[in-house]
Amino acid sequence: MNKSFHSEMAAGLDEIRAEGTEKVLKILQGPMDTRAPIKGSGEVLVLCSNNYLGLANHPEVVAAARKALERYGAGTASVRFICGTFQPHLQLEKALADFHRTERALTYTSCWMANTGLFASFCGEGDCVISDRLNHASLIDGIRMCPKSTRVVFRHCDMADLETRLKEAAGAKRRWIVTDGVFSMEGDLAKLADIVELAERYDAITVVDDSHGVGVVGKTGRGVVEHFGVEGKVDIITGTLGKALGGAAGGYIASSAAVTGMLVQRSRTSLFSNALPASVAAGAAKAVEILLAEPERVARIRDLRAAFYDGLCKLGYKPLKSASGIIPIIIGETAAAIRASEALLAEGVFVIGFGYPVVPEGTARLRIQVQATLTNDDVQFALAAFERVGKQLNLI
Ligand SMILES: Cc1ncc(COP(=O)(O)O)c(C=O)c1O
Repeated sequence: MNKSFHSEMAAGLDEIRAEGTEKVLKILQGPMDTRAPIKGSGEVLVLCSNNYLGLANHPEVVAAARKALERYGAGTASVRFICGTFQPHLQLEKALADFHRTERALTYTSCWMANTGLFASFCGEGDCVISDRLNHASLIDGIRMCPKSTRVVFRHCDMADLETRLKEAAGAKRRWIVTDGVFSMEGDLAKLADIVELAERYDAITVVDDSHGVGVVGKTGRGVVEHFGVEGKVDIITGTLGKALGGAAGGYIASSAAVTGMLVQRSRTSLFSNALPASVAAGAAKAVEILLAEPERVARIRDLRAAFYDGLCKLGYKPLKSASGIIPIIIGETAAAIRASEALLAEGVFVIGFGYPVVPEGTARLRIQVQATLTNDDVQFALAAFERVGKQLNLI
């Protein structure tokens, strides 16, 4: 054991605790749902989970997962290309490809794995990868895996800046535009129609991570591609199964048969890492089925977003305008956001405060995420708690 290393880390943790910015892991004592039991807090209203469609504990999702668990066992004990593909993987991949209207989809054990396996499979010397400044950490790390490519950041959702970067990359072998569909800390959407148009004009390849958009955005929940009516115009879509689509775990890349076929050959996070458990694949496939059969869940998210936004504004908060299932309220200092989140938890409302380094210093925030299963009474209950906490902490 290297004692000095461990003491250095202990001192670092003490510092984090002293400044009041420690992330304390809450323990769930039952399934994730509209309300969930948390150790020490009891049953609370959940406004911080990505369970947008309320499917994480849906009886049909659980039953599908259980059936696959019984039929296929715990897992593949293998990576995909050795002996790690079960029928539920193929069924899920077909469902995801149909859902996104792409030729094929390939699953990974997380979207993090999908994103970190994607770029290094294709981008080498001569490529120029142009990425939105607020892209998710997994896209950033995925792009970092291509040290021989030119890597450029454009200002968040700034199409003029993106165009400048594309012009500067005129001599590159390939130009890539990489964006989140829904930005997780802001709740806003990529300007995908403009991005697609720029990609066509400057001969670029488009990659959209729609982890927070799938199941939430677009009339039938097909994400930002549907919202902006650009079906068939985005080259590569990545997404997670750990949010709206069942909430268990897993990720995927949907694209042409050629691109996904090449990923099977080259993508290191598929070649050298185990496949999704069949139970998770079957649960996610059921979630896709429910989403398609019950579009009212997507509509409910839109109504809830409006109810929270209007309610918070009436109370004197200044939530960010959002077009997704995410409604951020900027608080300022990290410790203040964490204090507010603790006060809300004491009121029976589970909302997390996000601070530095997840968001820039001074822009710490509370992030409300709606679940389609919230009732109008739940909304009123939450707003009453926000009113009490807002007054108590001088936030409103
Ligand atoms: C935009 C985005 N991409 C990727 C991920 C990672 O997803 P997963 O949990 O499947 O690794 C997240 C999760 O926070 C996300 O918000």
